[in-house]
Amino acid sequence: MWAAARHDLKLGLVQVATSRGQLVGENLPPLVGEVAGLGFDFSRNLVSANSWGLLRKYSVARGAAKFWQAVADGEPVNRTENRTASHMSWRDPGSAPAQHQAFFSLLSSLGVTDAEGSPRFDRVLNVGIGGSEFGPNLLAQAQVGVEDLNQRYVSLSSITPTHLRQMLKTVDLERSAVVVSSKSFTTGETMRLARQLRSQFESQGLSWRDNFFAVTAEPQKALAWGFTPNHVLDMTKSVGGRYSLASPIGFSFALAYGLGAFASFRAGMRLVDEAVARDPGQSAPLSHALIWFWYRVFFNLQSVAVIPYVPQWRLLTGYLQQLLMESLGKSFDSQGHPVNTPVGSVVLGEVGTNAQHSFMQYLQFSTTAVPADLIGALSFESDDDFADFQLANLFAQSQALLFGAGESTNELDPPGGRPSNLLLTRDDSLKSLGQVISFYEHSTLFQAALYDVNPFDQWGVEAGKKIAAKLFGRIPTPSLKVALEFFGNGITGRFRS
Ligand code: F6P
Repeated sequence: MWAAARHDLKLGLVQVATSRGQLVGENLPPLVGEVAGLGFDFSRNLVSANSWGLLRKYSVARGAAKFWQAVADGEPVNRTENRTASHMSWRDPGSAPAQHQAFFSLLSSLGVTDAEGSPRFDRVLNVGIGGSEFGPNLLAQAQVGVEDLNQRYVSLSSITPTHLRQMLKTVDLERSAVVVSSKSFTTGETMRLARQLRSQFESQGLSWRDNFFAVTAEPQKALAWGFTPNHVLDMTKSVGGRYSLASPIGFSFALAYGLGAFASFRAGMRLVDEAVARDPGQSAPLSHALIWFWYRVFFNLQSVAVIPYVPQWRLLTGYLQQLLMESLGKSFDSQGHPVNTPVGSVVLGEVGTNAQHSFMQYLQFSTTAVPADLIGALSFESDDDFADFQLANLFAQSQALLFGAGESTNELDPPGGRPSNLLLTRDDSLKSLGQVISFYEHSTLFQAALYDVNPFDQWGVEAGKKIAAKLFGRIPTPSLKVALEFFGNGITGRFRS
């Protein structure tokens, strides 16, 4: 089946590099269009009509649409943990889990209105890491980009004791809510910070229980920790950390900026969910998944870049890095057998205009291609020519990547022949951000189906957590002398017992 595709591949970069002016994927209808108002142009890729046809056949053979449907229908798709993957239901008003109501009731009881955020607290401190931190923090930064909200949201994750002390000097704890977001409620980094904050409250004679909230899939553990029962939100075990942003993990954001802002984000996600649900096998996220799969397996390209030209979405790349790399960082297939092809890509990225002054040189000129997704907004809340400026830069990069800067091949002109995808949102709103994130979630599921891996477990993360828990407390005082002795004795021998 793949012989013809391999032939295309031989032509690959070289052919495109020498045929400037030709859009390779042009005239392949599913590659340009819009999905629920989110525009996409995947025509700037190194794939012929012939290869594209084969890729589409492969997606059918692999049952990509069926896998997507199994996720949406609540089948136990997460084999190693024997779980469903319920993330889509959290943004579907028709089928949201029962725990949804508790989320709204808690916010209402705190007086959080759609427009004003939380009147009871001036500031929300979210304590969490990974999927329990990236998403709400991304939303908060995206919101701060369009409104001046006096740092209403503070994300506490991986900070030093010095940083924590300094931060606490600037915060009125009595007027601060602390949201401990942890699916497992055992993550070392998070629980340590939560304990430190609890001590701070106690040392100031404040009742920490009134201001602390827990979001977790282990409510019993939060209760055992001492949380007030109606301050504990159950996010359910079936939602994966990196897919959890529309679940109660968004509580800290909603508490800071209001239900309206959070609802608008979720509505954006839902729009794309609905569009994909209409025909998963013909959907734009599947095309996107096929393109990345193509480069990974047939071109053996290890990296992809995601570059947003919306400065307040600066945390988007880190968010998608977890989503894609935890989901696809696998070397066993869905049945537990070792895989024999490359799986998943390294995701790198940065806000567009920063990237241009950093790693875009590599994307333009290096000896290896890095397929790039360039994400732009057609308008910005701060209306002036800002959107035009951003888009001019975005299109300039895409053009230079594909065609190079000039007609001749020399050391001063980028060679061209480098692929990019364009994603264009209507504006820089949270709703648009929701559309983008949902799009990548669906692409991740489709990629998992194409590679035939389970995108919902993360045993590598669990292994690291376990080893760190065993080691902590056994590492000697880190003075130079002790450290030298310690390494001198051989680190592996030292810990083997
Ligand atoms: O990355 C694995 C993971 O367990 C994620 O699900 C989560 O994003 C992160 O670690 C933090 O874990 P928890 O939410 O259990 O504290």
